[in-house]
Amino acid sequence: MSSLSCCDCDEGMAGLPGESVSVIFTDPPYIGETYAEAYRVLARHAGRVLVPGGYLVSYCPQYYLPEILRIFEGSGLAWFWLVAQVNSGAKAIVWSRHAMCAYKPIVIFQMPPGSPPPRLFSDVISGARCKEFHPWQQSIHETLHLLSRLAEPGAVVLDPFAGSGTNLLAARLLGMEYIGFEIDPETCETARRRLAQQPLDLVALGVIEA
Ligand SMILES: C[S@@+](CC[C@H](N)C(=O)[O-])C[C@H]1O[C@@H](n2cnc3c(N)ncnc32)[C@H](O)[C@@H]1O
Repeated sequence: MSSLSCCDCDEGMAGLPGESVSVIFTDPPYIGETYAEAYRVLARHAGRVLVPGGYLVSYCPQYYLPEILRIFEGSGLAWFWLVAQVNSGAKAIVWSRHAMCAYKPIVIFQMPPGSPPPRLFSDVISGARCKEFHPWQQSIHETLHLLSRLAEPGAVVLDPFAGSGTNLLAARLLGMEYIGFEIDPETCETARRRLAQQPLDLVALGVIEA
């Protein structure tokens, strides 16, 4: 049974039964140095709630990638793959590195035992720029691509940092169950409205123009 709760995901994930989630697909907040705690929460619970062979898929900032990978050491998860999500529109510049960011890393871990996913996925993906529902909103295209390759309809998808519900909506549109946590009541309400969407809204998805 799908659900979206307005709560701290550390508490929300602690309340989930073991081996009850097929895929954690998430986009944690990373504001300055506070990013680490969000990834620690994921590392604390993922190994318990994921089914054997289940995946953790998470957006990550380039700058902190080595530290984030260290956070997952000892989590019980095994490294699986790195996906590049090509940025659409203007590229952010990280001045301390003189780097123009043309892509965002998406890391994938798997709960052992390792096995290939049901279908081939591409490790370079791109989507439209979408900020209609949340300032940090991601495009749904990437989630639709990866989720449809990593899991089957009926799978249970968890997004602990749900934001406007992009990943939960993708799960729903693919015939999967979803569990979401979002700490901000207003954002949670936005996600609830989006999740009531049916059928596919091709304008919101950026497939066609209004
Ligand atoms: C980067 S945004 C996710 C945006 C999302 N991918 C979308 O497309 O809308 C991260 C979200 O995590 C939420 N958040 C931050 N800390 C949280 C916590 N401890 N528990 C649950 N949600 C949290 C924030 O309010 C924010 O909406």
